[in-house]
Amino acid sequence: MRMRCALIALLMGVANSAAAQVNPEDAIHYRQSQFSVILWNWMPLNGMVRGRIPFDAKEFAKRAERVASVAPQLLEGFPAGSDSGAETSAKKDIWADFADFTAKMKTFEQASAKLATTARAGDEAAIKAQFAVVGDACKACHDKYKAE
Ligand code: HEC
Repeated sequence: MRMRCALIALLMGVANSAAAQVNPEDAIHYRQSQFSVILWNWMPLNGMVRGRIPFDAKEFAKRAERVASVAPQLLEGFPAGSDSGAETSAKKDIWADFADFTAKMKTFEQASAKLATTARAGDEAAIKAQFAVVGDACKACHDKYKAE
């Protein structure tokens, strides 16, 4: 019974405040999980682009679409105050210049959306070129905002 009240209160809280008042620990776990989903799909793409596994246009498009669908869900995993609360590699600089961090995230979102549409079109050279653009967007953000 007590559990249930707590759960209902939690659900109502989420409905009322959206992501505004989330627990930092939850936010950190949320964003790390999203990055894990991205990496899970990114590795086979990387393998295909580098020729380590055979290029399969359909498989590539499926996984590129997954990355593109997760990308717009990442930013809400970085609410103010979530620079600590669980083990995290997110640098405090993120919140010192959140506009720049947001811009880098948008660049990534757009690049990954374009990778998904390029992948559906099936031109292998164009796909590989756009894959590199997305990879640069990951790196640009990690270099500045992710600790090793
Ligand atoms: C706009 C910034 C940004 C972009 C773009 C970005 N990342 Fe990250 N990434 C981060 C930050 C910050 C962390 C650290 C999160 C934490 O530990 O709280 C992270 C963490 C990760 C992690 C570790 C997750 C864990 O379990 O700790 C992986 C894997 C990862 N990113 C992969 C990628 C890949 C692959 C891309 C591109 C396809 C990408 N990221 C794009 C900022 C970014």
